[in-house]
Amino acid sequence: MSKIQTIKGFADLFAPQSRLYTFMEDTARRVFGSYGYNELRIPLMEYTELFQRSIGAETDVVQKEMYTFPDRKGRSLTLRPEATAGVMRAYIEQNCHAQESVSKFFTCGPMFRYERPQKGRMRQFHQLNCECLGAHEPQVDAEVLLMLMFFLKELGFEELQPEINTLGCRECRPAYREALSNFLRRIDPATLCEDCRRRMESNPMRVLDCKVPSCKEQIEGAPRIRDHVCAECADHFDTVLGILDKRKIAYVINPRLVRGLDYYTRTTFEVVSSSIGAQGSVAGGGRYDGLVRQLGGPDVPGIGFACGMERLALMLEDTLAEQVQSRPDFYFAVLAPEAADTALLAAQALRESHLAGEMSFGNKSLKSQLRQASRTGAEYCLIMGEAEFAAQNVVVKHMDSGEQVSIALATLRDWAEIRREQKLDKERKRGSR
Ligand code: HAM
Repeated sequence: MSKIQTIKGFADLFAPQSRLYTFMEDTARRVFGSYGYNELRIPLMEYTELFQRSIGAETDVVQKEMYTFPDRKGRSLTLRPEATAGVMRAYIEQNCHAQESVSKFFTCGPMFRYERPQKGRMRQFHQLNCECLGAHEPQVDAEVLLMLMFFLKELGFEELQPEINTLGCRECRPAYREALSNFLRRIDPATLCEDCRRRMESNPMRVLDCKVPSCKEQIEGAPRIRDHVCAECADHFDTVLGILDKRKIAYVINPRLVRGLDYYTRTTFEVVSSSIGAQGSVAGGGRYDGLVRQLGGPDVPGIGFACGMERLALMLEDTLAEQVQSRPDFYFAVLAPEAADTALLAAQALRESHLAGEMSFGNKSLKSQLRQASRTGAEYCLIMGEAEFAAQNVVVKHMDSGEQVSIALATLRDWAEIRREQKLDKERKRGSR
């Protein structure tokens, strides 16, 4: 029989890789939680129209990358290519703005985009996503950026710098679009890629984002949006940058940064790593003040970002894989069939005393069970053979030093207590370093 494989661009995450994901999620919950972001779990699927109306009909995501199909009644559904649209839908549907003036949401999980898979680019990938709704002040933009950089620092990436730009607002953007269109009209269309020739008319700002080298060359001298934004947008941007300066956060102003989704206004940003290949953008986001209204909700401003977990994992793999590898406390080796029930209940008692470990099943030699113990990385191997069972003892062997002692089964919980204290002590010391 032929074997069934995963879908191209989708992946299974086994340990220790999956531990990196747990570590990222735990860190995200801790850091974002300390700024008041509460977890929101939204569905993986939405009506297609939601993404068309928010991400923008002219974007690559909507035009080429969505997993869209009809349900059994012919309604068009789409697997979420990002989380922002779903968060907005939930916010509007639950009338959140009537209950609190500012709402902060953390969302994480898989997203789906039909892109060409390569290193750091998957068709099912995972994002850590934050959205702050209800505040228009530039201090919020600064707080969101500081929070993102703090999160990345907590993961161990201190050297990353955000690229930042402003995209203006609905008042000043049309004039910039006009200036950009005038510039683009002077370019020989034959020197632009097919997408850009189309975008020139439908959504000229997308041309700034094109990765095709000949297009990049052509738009070298394009007008910069920062020179065209209104006084309020300029003030807003300066205030954000001023706060980052005060906190001594290094950043790069990138006038070409327009982002791949259409809902952005004012502050936009991306964090790019040079260490993981061509797909280096590890996080991206920005302000989207018109989005809630565009989706039929009240006129509420918003800002947010998403981090790509596959790309963060690529960066973490080298540095952290060992640290997040949790070491079990014990491996229970059973050498006599009659001892199996007693050993099983002793192992259960150890776990109820908050230790972690496995027990061996089946009739295997001591040598093979010790090999298995060391394979699991356990710190101790507990051994129960015929003699120990008869005496109601267990041998406790330290796997690194080889030292071993025999203890009475009746005192195993005390041993567990001491072991747990030692562990907590170690963790406290590591934490205070
Ligand atoms: P985005 O820039 O499309 O923004 O995606 C954010 C991050 O998701 C990227 O920087 C990247 O790390 C990761 N990512 C995107 N596509 C893939 C892929 N195919 N494979 C692996 N990783 C990928 C958004 O999605 C916005 N919703 C962010 C946002 C939230 N803006 C405001 N709030």
